[in-house]
Amino acid sequence: MFPAVLRPIVEFKGVTRAYGSRLALDDISLSLEPGDLTFLVGPSGAGKTTFLKLINRELRPTKGEVWVDGVAAHSLKASRVADLRRRVGVVFQDYKLLPRLTAKENVAFGLQVGDLRISDAEAMDRALDALEAVGLGDRGSSFPNQLSGGQQQRVAVARAMITQPRVLIADEPTGNLDMETAWQIMALLENVATFGTTVLVATHNVEIVRRLQRRILTLVEGRLVRDQPAGGIGRMEWLASASS
Ligand SMILES: Nc1ncnc2c1ncn2[C@@H]1O[C@H](COP(=O)(O)OP(=O)(O)O)[C@@H](O)[C@H]1O
Ligand SMILES: [Mg+2]
Repeated sequence: MFPAVLRPIVEFKGVTRAYGSRLALDDISLSLEPGDLTFLVGPSGAGKTTFLKLINRELRPTKGEVWVDGVAAHSLKASRVADLRRRVGVVFQDYKLLPRLTAKENVAFGLQVGDLRISDAEAMDRALDALEAVGLGDRGSSFPNQLSGGQQQRVAVARAMITQPRVLIADEPTGNLDMETAWQIMALLENVATFGTTVLVATHNVEIVRRLQRRILTLVEGRLVRDQPAGGIGRMEWLASASS
């Protein structure tokens, strides 16, 4: 018996992206596997956001190929972009919730925007389930401005996950949060990965990256200068040392 060979969920092949004459990403090749949680780090301007935007085809590469769950994002016709976006959930630093919609409506919107055939009743039902999964089952009727930053980010994660995407990309998801709340959001993202979604997190939060011991991709001036595999001291070990 051979173990099943996992097909990469995200694959970059010789990806270069320029803005005019400025090279934001320079010949990047790598792949991300199902259920991996990977950090994307590097100084401001290194190309992290550009990298993430290539995955949901907000941008196209200048050169090279971007494959997402078997879909050729680099050459995808505009009419097929919705199909790709259903496979890719997105979380932002500033949550990007719609202020006039309740938490539940925001999450349901994530579902309905991708599939217009879903009834309001079903969308609301699934939105409530998704909110329960992020620990906010009792806040469905709250508006974003009635929620803390951490709660708003939980709603955003629920919205991103409601389509059951194969990939979750998060651009500085804890950038606006205090350390304790940041850890809660990271625990949530780890949980998402546990269920098989490939999670890619661009972050400046050195403490989180250092402690979680996940794979770390380091970009500097658009080049992948380091690809550090998951490992080092185990998670349990640091938890023990943190509580001593
Ligand atoms: N829309 C744009 N037009 C021109 N240059 C851009 C644009 N977006 C990003 N850049 C440039 O591309 C490089 C990478 O940016 P970005 O991907 O946002 O990096 P990071 O997210 O790591 O801060 C930077 O030099 C930035 O100035
Ligand atoms: Mg950025």
